[in-house]
Amino acid sequence: MTIAISHQKGGVGKSTIAWNLATALQDKYNVELVDLDIQKTLTYTNEIRSNHTDLKPLTIKSFSTPEDFKKYINGDSDERLSIIDIGGFDSSMNRLAIITADLVITPVSDRSFELLGIKSFEKVLKELSDLIDEDIVVRVLLNNINPKKSKLGDVKTFIEKSKHFSLLDTILRARADFDKSAGLGMNVIEYNKDGKASKEGKDLVKEIIKILY
Ligand SMILES: Nc1ncnc2c1ncn2[C@@H]1O[C@H](COP(=O)(O)OP(=O)(O)O)[C@@H](O)[C@H]1O
Ligand SMILES: [Mg+2]
Repeated sequence: MTIAISHQKGGVGKSTIAWNLATALQDKYNVELVDLDIQKTLTYTNEIRSNHTDLKPLTIKSFSTPEDFKKYINGDSDERLSIIDIGGFDSSMNRLAIITADLVITPVSDRSFELLGIKSFEKVLKELSDLIDEDIVVRVLLNNINPKKSKLGDVKTFIEKSKHFSLLDTILRARADFDKSAGLGMNVIEYNKDGKASKEGKDLVKEIIKILY
């Protein structure tokens, strides 16, 4: 089973979401986090995590060539849950991950510049869909949304109209816990189990399990 967290735009929350999902799902599933980010953000975050004796570090995989990554993807099985943190660039490894994943999650916020990013990502999805002769549909996760905002703007309208995007029910609001927890090598639930971010994190985990299993 494979989940790819993908968007060609940087800073939208890919690593944050991959981190929270992987650390929360590893108790129940045989999780491997695939770090395709050239900055290796989560590999370093996991090193911080190893200093907490009470927390289980993640199993992290990284690949230097597309061939090695392809071999890994070909070994996909029901016993393994690979969560891929895709770097914010458009490479052959990213494209392979999008095509082969059981679930692609694309984090998007609702700021004005996001619309441009999601439009160019849609172009990539169109190209890939033509290539495999099948419509690729990615699940959009609204992330880093102002907690006070109830009406979501143009980005949401665009997503609802596109055949390549489908909104997840869970929304992650802008919450300091997402940043603070990762800095300490923790997920939002471990960091502050009664917090609002923790509630949203749990909702996301539940929704993802329901989609996959
Ligand atoms: N829901 C959120 N609330 C608050 N901060 C967030 C949220 N999601 C992401 N961030 C912060 O935004 C920044 C970019 O997130 P990151 O996961 O590194 O993005 P990407 O991997 O797409 O480049 C980080 O500092 C992260 O802590
Ligand atoms: Mg990242």
